[in-house]
Amino acid sequence: MTVSLIDAPARPPVEPPVRERVYTIRGGARLCGAVQIGGAKNAALPILAATLLTADTCVIENVPDIADIRVMLDLLRHMGADVVHEPALGRVAITCADIRTRTTPDALAERFRGSFLVMGPLLARFGQASTARPGGCNIGSRPVDVHSKGFRALGAEVANVDHRFAASGRLKGANILLDVPSHTGTENIIMAAVLADGLTVIENASIEPEVLDLVDFLRSLGARIAWTPTARQLAIQGVPRLHGTVFRLMPDRLEAGTYLLAGAITRGDVTVERVVPDHLRSVIAKLVEAGAQVDEAEHSVRVVVDRPLTAVDVHTYFYPGFPTDLQQPFTALLTQAHGESIVQETVFEARMTYAYELQRMGADVGVKGATAVVNGPSRLHGTTVTAHDLRAGAAVMLAALAAEGDTLIRAAHTVERGYNRLIDNLCALGAVGSADWLEALPA
Ligand code: EPU
Repeated sequence: MTVSLIDAPARPPVEPPVRERVYTIRGGARLCGAVQIGGAKNAALPILAATLLTADTCVIENVPDIADIRVMLDLLRHMGADVVHEPALGRVAITCADIRTRTTPDALAERFRGSFLVMGPLLARFGQASTARPGGCNIGSRPVDVHSKGFRALGAEVANVDHRFAASGRLKGANILLDVPSHTGTENIIMAAVLADGLTVIENASIEPEVLDLVDFLRSLGARIAWTPTARQLAIQGVPRLHGTVFRLMPDRLEAGTYLLAGAITRGDVTVERVVPDHLRSVIAKLVEAGAQVDEAEHSVRVVVDRPLTAVDVHTYFYPGFPTDLQQPFTALLTQAHGESIVQETVFEARMTYAYELQRMGADVGVKGATAVVNGPSRLHGTTVTAHDLRAGAAVMLAALAAEGDTLIRAAHTVERGYNRLIDNLCALGAVGSADWLEALPA
């Protein structure tokens, strides 16, 4: 089968943003109380894409009401999926019985990274898939060669022309050693392999909890998958077809980590509920090393800070290492710790831009390449800052909580891509803040 890039997708109408979301946070309040954590964005995205693997109805529970999920649901609807979304209940029912195109609409696909996750399921079920280069946070070059090599190893032809990717072919199980344990790369290859003929073994796979949540979801559809996390290995025996399911998403460990850090930076007492404490091990270890008191229960974690924090070094790494997604918020916390902290970002090469926003708030943060050196504690002051990406937005919000005076956070809609009601929940814990819309300035 040849790969066609001619099948240009229809562009659904997408309104250009005319208003900008802004938050105002008045620093100085000590956060106290409990917050319930929602379902994980980075598990929801592949699992929603994986509903394309079956014509039966899949009901997904604990789905976060955030912008990236709404775009993913729009994308699936555009392709012909029947989607019933009940945001108040956190439930989505999806039936992909009548998928009319194997191509994603560019205007939606370019808005987020998760769009590329439809490639594996479309290829597996229909033998054809094409999409635009995915968008997402601007935190590095974010290639997709791991995905493409995986599809090729399974027997697909893959073409990449003018920022469009297309893959086609009948898939056959293969042994695949990933160059890097890419999170979405592993997910796409698993989803491609579940309906392939024979056995696929993926080595050097990502074992992030969200990947394993996808594995659990696929098993609930009838997929045959075994994994050995210590060896970073997954074995997938292809099956001829998959069926529907009801599945509850895992809690969002990154949302949970963000609230723990909000508690810590305000020298507060915050409990995150409905979490898997084990997913937060590396973050808890660093909080304890910095001098926070952390108590774990079966489904909750409490942080209390009642003495000065001390500097710690952080080195991001693939799970179970320290998550790159909490590097920025943790650095905000380190501006309040005594001494010099060295933060090394090893997963994404361009995830340090937020440091300049922290500097503008009075933090002593120097950046060289992907390393930040923080000397604390600094007296932070409110000013106008920008949420350059999702987690950068969380980082400046945390810094604002610890700053004197008011901080205006621009481009706050970026935060709403991945956090449900972050500003409201911080206020429920005692923060003083508000969200508004500004008329967007002309480009
Ligand atoms: N990489 C390659 N080739 C590839 C893919 C990745 O070289 O084909 C490299 C990247 O350049 C990067 C590293 O591998 O240096 C890790 O990238 P990965 O593919 O694992 O990241 P991702 O799948 O694009 C997901 C999450 C990110 C999260 C990372 C790391 C989703 C939708 N996104 O991205 O989430 O930071 O894994 O865990 O699952 C966020 O939630 O804010 C976010 C950015």
